Amino acid sequence: MSWVEKYRPRKFVEIRGQNLAVEKVQNFIRNFKFGRKAIILYGPPGTGKTTIAHVTANESGAEIFELNASDLRDATKMQEVLRPALEQKSLVSKWKIILIDEVDGISALDRGGLSELLYLIEKAQYPIIITANDIWDKKFSPLRSKSELVQLKEIEYGMIKEILIDILRKERKFVDISILTNISLKARGDIRAAINDLQTIAYGDGKGEVQIEERNKEVDIFHALRSVFKENPKNEMMTLFDSVNMSLDEIMLWIEENIPAEYQKEELMKAYDALSRADVFKGRIYKQQYWRFLIYQNIFLSYAVSAAKREKKAGFTSYKKPTRILKMWMNNQKNAMKKTIAQKYSNLTHIGEKRAMRDFPIIKNIIRNPDTIKELRLNDEEVAYLEKEN
Ligand SMILES: Nc1ncnc2c1ncn2[C@@H]1O[C@H](COP(=O)(O)OP(=O)(O)OP(=O)(O)O)[C@@H](O)[C@H]1O
Ligand SMILES: [Mg+2]
Repeated sequence: MSWVEKYRPRKFVEIRGQNLAVEKVQNFIRNFKFGRKAIILYGPPGTGKTTIAHVTANESGAEIFELNASDLRDATKMQEVLRPALEQKSLVSKWKIILIDEVDGISALDRGGLSELLYLIEKAQYPIIITANDIWDKKFSPLRSKSELVQLKEIEYGMIKEILIDILRKERKFVDISILTNISLKARGDIRAAINDLQTIAYGDGKGEVQIEERNKEVDIFHALRSVFKENPKNEMMTLFDSVNMSLDEIMLWIEENIPAEYQKEELMKAYDALSRADVFKGRIYKQQYWRFLIYQNIFLSYAVSAAKREKKAGFTSYKKPTRILKMWMNNQKNAMKKTIAQKYSNLTHIGEKRAMRDFPIIKNIIRNPDTIKELRLNDEEVAYLEKEN
């Protein structure tokens, strides 16, 4: 089970760092009969918007009635089923809270759904809670003016760390404190992201001896994979991989390995298509040394793979390390280095390339000489390789 779900607060007291927002929602419910009909909780991801809506219902003994994208797309259903259900209060039915989650992601609102929603707000007999990341688009202006606005703030780093430690204690698991610090900083206010990272790390091969460097590297890549696979594509995504401490080629292997874990059918096809295009550019970069193509390889891997899905994805996915291919690739990398050195050597000495490869163990001792290094024009990487080989 995903820890994000397992540790989703059920009561107001369990919600961390959002006291002001919680108070405003409580007041909104209390004054509903005299005040506004709708409240909009907006702010960055993983800060408790959806949670607050559910907890509010839970604590006031109401049932959540969630209007989703497909309801708002279907005008007849809206008019014939939903309107009557929400306009009339029956004596038998339970008290309700209407939730419209992630309203900024509902594309149906562009096509008439919005006016239907505004009408509902006018007539509703039940409080409406709306959530969004960004509510400042011009098209939401009529919605804003009918609703109370409550901004949720990013959760502060120290508090995220406390939440993580709390969870580890309950799970009876141990994760090195420096990794917890890394996770909390990287989350940048997003509790969901932090908990997901934590679960990934805690469930890793965890054989006692934690290699912190390795683990921190994994936090990076898991974090990036999660943004690409789960979130809606956005422009910032195009430079996402710059902050991952890994080569683009290695990142590509991670994406390749994990696409099927997240995408199905048409999405799967589109994602592999994007990947194959990234691969084409990779080939051009290697063959023709067109390094400026890196930007395209990068965009296909991040934005295009992300845009392969129809909508945002929820839930926890346990991404896999691409072990087999990764090993093959690293071997190839190693061999490739050996090959370029052998090539340079054979050019200079006029022995065959094959022979240079075969005799490499002997040759390398000759090549290590600083004068020879200069004469062969070995680059830094090749020198580093020679130094490691023994
Ligand atoms: N304020 C909080 N206190 C404690 N846990 C939280 C809080 N906010 C989020 N969480 C944790 O993060 C998870 C996700 O939170 P939630 O679904 O409420 O985020 P959200 O603000 O709706 O994000 P999004 O914008 O992506 O929909 C929760 O299940 C819970 O585990
Ligand atoms: Mg939400």
